[in-house]
Amino acid sequence: MCGIVGYIGDGNAKDIIIDGLKRLEYRGYDSAGIAVHKDGNLVVRKHIGRISNLEDMIQGENLDSPVGIGHTRWATHGAPSDINAHPHSSRDGRIAVVHNGIIENYVKLKQWLRENHNIEFKSETDTEVIAQLIGVFYDGDLLDAVYKAVDMMEGAYAIGVIAADEPDKIVAVRRDAPLIVGLGNNCNFIASDIPALLKHVRKIYLIENNETVVITKNSAKILNEERKEVKRDVFNVTWDADAAEKEGYDHFMLKEIHEQPKGIYETLMRRLDENDSIKLDGITLTKEELDKINKIYIVACGTAYHAGLVGKYAIEKFAKIPVEVDVASEFRYRDPFVDENTLFIAVSQSGETLDTLAALREAKSKGARILSVVNVVGSSVARESDDVFYTWAGPEIAVASTKAYTTQLICMYLIALYMAVLKGSITEDYYKFVMDELKALPEKLEELLKKEKDIEEIAKSQYKRECVFFIGRGSDVGVSYEGSLKLKEISYINSFAIAAGELKHGTIALIEQGTLVIALATQDKLYDKMLSNIQEVKARGAYVIGLAKESNKEIEAQANDVIYIPDCADEVTPILAVVPLQILAYYIAKLRGCDIDKPKNLAKSVTVE
Ligand code: M6R
Repeated sequence: MCGIVGYIGDGNAKDIIIDGLKRLEYRGYDSAGIAVHKDGNLVVRKHIGRISNLEDMIQGENLDSPVGIGHTRWATHGAPSDINAHPHSSRDGRIAVVHNGIIENYVKLKQWLRENHNIEFKSETDTEVIAQLIGVFYDGDLLDAVYKAVDMMEGAYAIGVIAADEPDKIVAVRRDAPLIVGLGNNCNFIASDIPALLKHVRKIYLIENNETVVITKNSAKILNEERKEVKRDVFNVTWDADAAEKEGYDHFMLKEIHEQPKGIYETLMRRLDENDSIKLDGITLTKEELDKINKIYIVACGTAYHAGLVGKYAIEKFAKIPVEVDVASEFRYRDPFVDENTLFIAVSQSGETLDTLAALREAKSKGARILSVVNVVGSSVARESDDVFYTWAGPEIAVASTKAYTTQLICMYLIALYMAVLKGSITEDYYKFVMDELKALPEKLEELLKKEKDIEEIAKSQYKRECVFFIGRGSDVGVSYEGSLKLKEISYINSFAIAAGELKHGTIALIEQGTLVIALATQDKLYDKMLSNIQEVKARGAYVIGLAKESNKEIEAQANDVIYIPDCADEVTPILAVVPLQILAYYIAKLRGCDIDKPKNLAKSVTVE
């Protein structure tokens, strides 16, 4: 997804911006560009493809300047190309704009600019409309021109703007797309994401919706829609810059897989007191409020949706409240029944996924209470929720989500147990049993990660497959979906997950000699049923990799290969079961020579519909 970096100060804007853009590469992009002040003019350079293409293009050119803006683009309006790459300029080239998000009324604005100002457009983008609008309103006051342009714009966006005639400032606006200001010494920054600035600053302002920012070398002002200055507390970033680097692993994905015991430990232990009672920081839901809740929706996209599927199991089992799980892009358009007795749980790593945000707003407008499970502190989903429960996974850089998923699961269990205690629907003994199982997970996960080499060996024998099925029952169904998504998104193998009991209702027709089936059989109470399902697919020629608990050895007689997870209660198997599937997907993708951290066509944070 698009990234913005802007700099003004004593340093060399070009180098600082390009470095910042590189730290946003994980968001996914198809072109990159930069605009800097130079001798009273603006110089814009942009190139399709990787940032290195842009660097090659400007190599040897003197673009040293104390102020500039840069961008990585992920195409929405108009194909990836040099022309469509950002920054975009006004007709006279004296205004340059970078933009994340979408201008919904850009067609109307384009027509208005053509008819009233004879503007000829060079690109197919909505962003050029912003640059041209600001250009026609500009009469020596950039801030005023930006306000006038923004007044006409509809949509969700963040923009950064510079003007050739005002080399002392950058103006930026946030409306429904992330924007931050970095506060340095004799320099200030704008950016779409914190990692872009970590090398230079720790103090930031989180910009709110409909706010405009003016940064100069020595000041950073935030203004509201009425152009009045608003005060903002400084947010101190505590992440270590190294946390956003690979730390010796070949890929961020593998590093993040290995960070899961720590992420789980942090997410869990920070919420338990000395008696193992749950203290849900950020959640103020009382017993009286919970008693009124008669329906829970868990709404999310992709991997976060899969975490929701496991959340349903946990909440219904422990708290005895009916839960519906929905993908956000469906929820927002299906007019679901929601009222003030509904609890809406949004799950999102980035907290910026547009569909999740829109579904949240839809539920909020109908009176639901909004609780979110989010990884990125201060993100839009977090800010718009009544209660926020943070996963403590740390920054997740690889597009394929791993540690965010397992920490989301921990949050789901904690929320479910918390509700169960409030409602009195769980006995003390059972609560203690489940809590002990959860607390044992970080260590069991460490143990499981030691099997990485064995799983790599399995990958070596399977990486040429072109079609894979994942099957499971109970909470293994959600994990099968997640295992399948992991495999397809990074290895591009056609992979499909289905509840094992559904096989014979159609899908089994596709099983033939040599089809790879990954059978999750981690649930004790459904184990025998799964063994029967394995027999069914084996009888039709499938090659089966089974996944089971260490003590359940009968599976060896059925499956061709078996991966064991440490023994644990059925209630918590999803957190362990997903990890071998992540590792298997990783090594299969590696053996197939895929771009693991940045799979084709995918972005880390999907801030468009
Ligand atoms: O940031 P979010 O959790 O809201 O993102 C939702 C999905 O786009 C995301 O989980 C996606 O499916 C994963 N990157 C896949 O690994």
